[in-house]
Amino acid sequence: MKQPFKMRKPVLIKLKRASIKGEMVLFQPIWVRIFHWGFAASLTVILLTGLELHKPANFLILNYGKVLTAHLVFGWFALGFVALRIADALIQRDNSLIPKIHDLKRLPKLMAYYFFLRPAPPPSRKYNSGQLLIYFSWFLLFLVASLLGLVSYWQGKHLIWLWHLVGGFQVLRWIKFTITIYFLATIPVHIYLSSTEDISRLQAMVTGYERKPPNNS
Ligand code: HEM
Repeated sequence: MKQPFKMRKPVLIKLKRASIKGEMVLFQPIWVRIFHWGFAASLTVILLTGLELHKPANFLILNYGKVLTAHLVFGWFALGFVALRIADALIQRDNSLIPKIHDLKRLPKLMAYYFFLRPAPPPSRKYNSGQLLIYFSWFLLFLVASLLGLVSYWQGKHLIWLWHLVGGFQVLRWIKFTITIYFLATIPVHIYLSSTEDISRLQAMVTGYERKPPNNS
């Protein structure tokens, strides 16, 4: 006969202590939250308008000029939010978004965990190695796409060297489109993992605070 599931006593005690005594700690400071939601909203508009500008969908009947204005305005907003995050990181000496060698060495173990080959993820700093790789690639690609955006905006007036270096307008459009697809492929992974792995992390991204389990001592 199947035995009823019984939790081991030490685990049960730990769980009880965590929810009763666990103290609330500030995990996501206000500027990180402002950056996060501001950047997420702006990027959503940038990606959708970018797709429309790349290949207008006839059934939407949108005004091309207005879509371009929205694309540019939210592009500047997103750049502003990124500047804010960089300034905050410099002032707070926060390097939580910069991947280090030891973070990358933990990636295979993290992948093994995601593919159900390990019971627990390897230890990590504020963000795990997978998150770090995605966030860092987003920062880099967003800056590349913004620079290329300026090149096409100034068509031949400024940054002409970059225009030539890239190989002309069609190559430039192709690069920006590829970056858009990368964002569209990785954002759902980010949303899925950050809302399933540890829900208190999502709470922290909204309220700033997370409940920290007490020390075992
Ligand atoms: C509904 C959509 C989203 C949800 C629920 C969400 C949730 C979260 C959560 C919970 C974290 C913290 C992860 C942790 O503590 O382990 C986080 C971090 C982050 N997310 Fe999102 N996210 C969303 C959309 C986006 C989008 C669209 C972007 C931009 C591409 C984005 C970029 C980031 C970045 C860069 C961080 C690191 C924040 C920092 O330390 O500066 N997120 N997100």
